[in-house]
Parts: sequence; structure tokens; C-alpha cells
Amino acid sequence: MNTKKDFIAVFDSGVGGISVLRHLLRLMPGERFLYYGDSANAPYGTRSREEVKKLTFAAAEKLMEQGLKALVVACNTATSAAITDLRQAYPDTIVIGIEPALKLAAERFPGGRIGVMATPMTLREEKFEGLLHRYGQSSRVYRLPAPGLVELVESGRADSPEMDALMDNLLGPYRGQLDAVVLGCTHYPFAAAAISRVLGEKTLLLDGGEGTARETQRRLAAAELLSEGPGELVIRNSLPGREIIDLCYTLLKQGSEA
Ligand code: DGL
Repeated sequence: MNTKKDFIAVFDSGVGGISVLRHLLRLMPGERFLYYGDSANAPYGTRSREEVKKLTFAAAEKLMEQGLKALVVACNTATSAAITDLRQAYPDTIVIGIEPALKLAAERFPGGRIGVMATPMTLREEKFEGLLHRYGQSSRVYRLPAPGLVELVESGRADSPEMDALMDNLLGPYRGQLDAVVLGCTHYPFAAAAISRVLGEKTLLLDGGEGTARETQRRLAAAELLSEGPGELVIRNSLPGREIIDLCYTLLKQGSEA
């Protein structure tokens, strides 16, 4: 066990959390980041709550051995299933979880029509019901599960004819109908271009990546744990081979150009 707690670990079921990592890197370039994606077990979103909790805990245990000052659960699905238990299990580490940016959307469009794209698990969890109760009362909220989207991003086809066809199929009926769509799964920002092509430019796409990065920075600052550098980035994945790591760097580069 590394006793020096200097890493910020960023965890997702696969490559999706890179959409959060890009904000973290931009905000805190002096930090040491360890990104871990569990692509061998993705997607999480169609699994049971218990399975997702077990997989999340297995990953968290391994990451904790590296010496962490913060764990960022950059996966809405894993956050829904495990965040409360993780915080209880690791009271000495800052544990941050991402959740669908419904608050942001409701504040921006009071009384508006808001779609929430997320995995089936996120949309049926109690945590989402709580969000709906708190922020969705004054708006019309449409739940938009997107089966198949995660798989396309995981296989490097975020921008592909297959993605365009899938989005057409899922979102076609909502073209021009929504004020905002919350991207409630960290894989989805990589399909933003395809989503906007179908919904139309007037629908604002919102995700929780930046808010999560800001919250992480705020918590580290409050605990006087921010580091001056030098920064570092390590990317690991449960899938063997170079391909999945290369995909992470490709997505990170795309995100930084956006
Ligand atoms: N990226 C994850 C999220 O934010 C879920 C993807 C999956 O289904 O594995 O919900």
C-alpha cells in the first residue's frame, strides 16, 4: 500500500469518464491523475444494481492501494449504485460522484421541455427519482434511455454512420421538440455531434463533467490538498492491450479540442 496519498483516481465503466477527465485536467493541470476504465465489464448500465456495486467496489479497492487523495466516480451508473456505500467505506478519501445535470437544465429552462439521456439503470434508480423530485417538478422531463450508444463509443465508433442511425432511431421523434437534453452518461458527450444532428441546433446539450471537475477542485481546496505539480496522467483499463488505451487518448484529444 502506497502511504503517500497524492493521486486523483477517475473511474468509469469504460472510456466514458474521459469526458470528465478532460475537464479535470484543464482545471487542475498540476495534479497526478490515474484514470481507470473497466471496459472488460462494460456496459454497466444494463446490469443489476448489485452487480454494478460489486464491480465498482472491486475497482475502488484496487485504486485505493495506489494512494488516493480523491476518487472521482466519473460514471453516473456507478454513482447511482454505489456512491453512498463508497463514502462510508472510505471516510478518509474525498469521494465525488457524477450525476445527471438536471438541476442545470431546469434552472436554464424553467417550465421547459427537458430530455434526460442515461443508462436504464441510472433512470430507474432512487437517486434519479430524488433528482426529478428536486429539480424536475417545474419542467416536462422525458426519460431517454439509449441502448447501444455505450457500445459504439467503446468500440471507437462515436462518430460513425452506425451512431447516426442509432440516434435517428432513438431521438428522431424529439427533433425540434426539446429545449435541452441532459447527457446523463459520461459516454454520451462523445456522441454530441450525432445527437445534435438529430435533435437540431436549438436543443442545448448539457452534461455534468465540468460541474464534477469544479466540485473536485473545490473539495480538494477546502481540504488543502491541491497540488502545484508537476502533473501526471496514467491511463489503465481492465481490457488487455494497447487499443483501448489508445482510444482513451484519442477521445481525450477530441475533447480538449472541443
Ligand atoms: N459511463 C457510464 C455512465 O456515466 C455508463 C456506461 C455503461 O453503461 O457502462 O453512466
